[in-house]
Amino acid sequence: MAEDSKIFTAPKGTKDILPPQSWRWEHLTRLALDTFARAGFAPITTPDFEHTELFERGVGNASEVVTKQMYTFPDRGGRSLTLRPEGTAPVMRAVLEHGLERGPLPVKLAYAQAMFRYERPQKGRTRQHLQVGAEGIGSANPLLDAEIIELSHRFLQEAGLEPHLLLNSIGHEDASCRQGYIKVLSGFLQEHAPELASDDRQRLETNPLRTFDSKEKRTVEVMKDAPLLSEYICDACREHFAEVCSALDDVGVDFELEPRLVRGLDYYTRTTFEYQVAGLGSQSAVGGGGRYDGLSEALGGPPLPGIGFGLGIERILLALDSKGSWTTTVEGPIHVYVVALGDEAERAALKLAIDLRRAGVGADFDLMSRSMKGQMKDASRSGARYAVILGEDEMAKGTAAVKDLVTTDQKTVALDEVLAAVRT
Ligand code: HAM
Repeated sequence: MAEDSKIFTAPKGTKDILPPQSWRWEHLTRLALDTFARAGFAPITTPDFEHTELFERGVGNASEVVTKQMYTFPDRGGRSLTLRPEGTAPVMRAVLEHGLERGPLPVKLAYAQAMFRYERPQKGRTRQHLQVGAEGIGSANPLLDAEIIELSHRFLQEAGLEPHLLLNSIGHEDASCRQGYIKVLSGFLQEHAPELASDDRQRLETNPLRTFDSKEKRTVEVMKDAPLLSEYICDACREHFAEVCSALDDVGVDFELEPRLVRGLDYYTRTTFEYQVAGLGSQSAVGGGGRYDGLSEALGGPPLPGIGFGLGIERILLALDSKGSWTTTVEGPIHVYVVALGDEAERAALKLAIDLRRAGVGADFDLMSRSMKGQMKDASRSGARYAVILGEDEMAKGTAAVKDLVTTDQKTVALDEVLAAVRT
C-alpha cells in the first residue's frame, strides 16, 4: 500500500467498531456497568495516560506488560507518560490521590475503559481493547473475594456465556509464603533449564513464576512436574483461600482449582482467577482478576488490600459469535420511521419525528427525497417497528397512515394520534 494512503487505515492492531456491531459493544458495556452498579460499584473514569512510573511500580518491572507492551512517550514538558495498559493501578492511584480510603470502606469502583498494549495482533488480541472491570478496595475479607468473583461470573452469564472459572491462591510476598516457594521453584527450574524453551530460560532470574504461563510445548512438559505454590503457602493464606472457596459454594458459583494459574501482572497476591470460554482459540481467557493486597504500598500508600477483575469486551463478543448465538437481543433505538412524499410532507416529517423524539420515542425520517419504495426499504433497514406514511392524501386530511412493519397491519389516524398509535 502506498505510504500516503496510510491515513485511510487504522493503525496496526486497532480497529473501528462500526454499526451494527457497535450496538453490541454499547449494549454489553451498559449491561456491565448496570450489573456492577446494582452491587454498589460506582463508575470511575481515570485519564487515558498516566505517569510511566505508576505502571512500573504498580504492575511491576518484571511483567511483560511493562517490559514489552507499554505505549510510553515523552510529552512536550519532558514527562514520561504511558497510555493505560490496565485499569487497576490507575484506580488505586486515584483512590490514594483523593483520599477515598479515609471514607467508608470498601471503596467500590467500576469502569469501562480502553487499554493499550503493544502486542502482536491476532484473533482476540488487539493493541487497543475495551475492558469492563470492578475493584473493591480497603477490605481483606474473603467474602469480598466471593462477592467480586460472583459479580464477574454473573455478568458473563447475563451476557450469554457459560464461563469456566479457574481459581488459585498465589500467597503473599513474604519469606514464609511465596518467597519461600520461589526459592524451591527456582531450584527446580535451574535443574531443568536445558529442557526449557530459550525465552523461558531467559526470565528464570527475573520472573520464575511466569514460567507457568509459557505456551512453549517443551516448557509446558517440564512444568507438569514443577512444585506447586499451593503446597507452600502459609496458613493464613490457606485459610483465606478456604473461606473464599466455601463462600463461592454458598452462592452457587462453580469453579475449578488450577494451581498453575499465575496471571500476568505482578501485583497479585492470594486469590487469583480467570474465566475461560469456548471458541477463543489460544486467547481463551475472556477475563480475570485477583487480590492485590500490596499494590497501595508499592505505590507509596498505606496498607490497603483490594481485589478486582477486568473482562475484555472484544473477547466476550468473539465467544458469543462462535456460539452462533446472540442470546441477548439488542433493541434498535429507532421505533418509528416517517415516510414522506412531497416537499410539504417532508417538512411535516421533520416535525413529526422531532415530536416523537421529544416524547421519548426513537424516530427517523428520509432526507434524500427517496421514492416510496426506497423509503420503505430504509424504514426496515432502520429496524423500526412502525412506518408512518405522510402522502398527499394524508397531508390534505391532516392524517397519517401507520403501518406495523411486523404484522403489516395498516391504519389511518389523525396526526395528533400518531404518538398513541405507535406507543403499543
Ligand atoms: P488482564 O488479564 O491483563 O487483567 O486483562 C483482562 C482481560 O482483558 C483479558 O482477559 C482479556 O479479555 C482482555 N485483554 C487483555 N489484553 C488484551 C488484548 N491485547 N486484546 C484484547 N483483549 C485483551 C488486567 O488487566 C487486570 N487489571 C484485571 C484486574 C482488575 N485485576 C484486578 N483488578
